Amino acid sequence: MRRVEVLKNWMMISLVLLLVVLCSACGESKTNPKASEAPEISAPQPVTQDASPSPPRVKTHPVTTGTRETYQWYCAQCHGIKGKGNGINAPHTAVPPRDHTKAEYLETRSDEQLFHVIKFGGLAGGRAPCMPRWGHTLNDDTIHALVNYIRELCECDYL
Ligand code: HEC
Repeated sequence: MRRVEVLKNWMMISLVLLLVVLCSACGESKTNPKASEAPEISAPQPVTQDASPSPPRVKTHPVTTGTRETYQWYCAQCHGIKGKGNGINAPHTAVPPRDHTKAEYLETRSDEQLFHVIKFGGLAGGRAPCMPRWGHTLNDDTIHALVNYIRELCECDYL
C-alpha cells in the first residue's frame, strides 16, 4: 500500500512538473515573436526618417560679416541695403531688381539657379541683362555665401 502511495505521489509531482514545463514553453513561444517583431518594425523607421531630410539642409559656405559687406558693396545699389529691391539704382533698371526678401518667389528658385544667375548674369539664367555677371569679380565661395545670405533675407528655402 505504501509503495503505491509513493508511486502516486511521484506521478503527481512529475505531472505538475510537466505542466510547468509546458506552460513556460507556451509562455516563451508567445512572448518571443513579439520581442523579435518589435525591433524589426521600429528600427529602420527612425533611420530613414532622420537620414532623408538632413543632407540637403547642410549649408556649406556660412554667411559671415564679409558676405554682408560684399552684398552692401556690390548688390545693395540695385537690390537695396536690406535686399528689398529698392536700391539707389533700382529706378534706372529696365526690369526692377529682384526683391531678395520675397519668399514666395525665391522658394521657387534652387540655390544652383541663384548661384548661376549671380555668377554668369541675368541673361545666362533667362533673366534680364541688367542683372550683371559677377564671376570675374567674386569667387565661387563668395557667391555660394551670397546665395545663403539671400536665403537669410527671404527666410526661405527652395521647396
Ligand atoms: C545693376 C543692378 C544690379 C546689381 C548691382 C545686382 N543686381 Fe541682382 N538683379 C538685378 C536685376 C534687374 C534683377 C532682376 C532680373 C530679372 O528679374 O529678370 C536681378 C536679379 C537677381 C537675382 C534673382 C535671379 C532670379 O533667379 O530671378 C539674384 C539672386 C541677384 N540678382 C543677386 C545679386 C547679387 C548677389 C548681387 C551682388 C553681387 C546683385 N544681384 C547685384 C540687378 C542688379
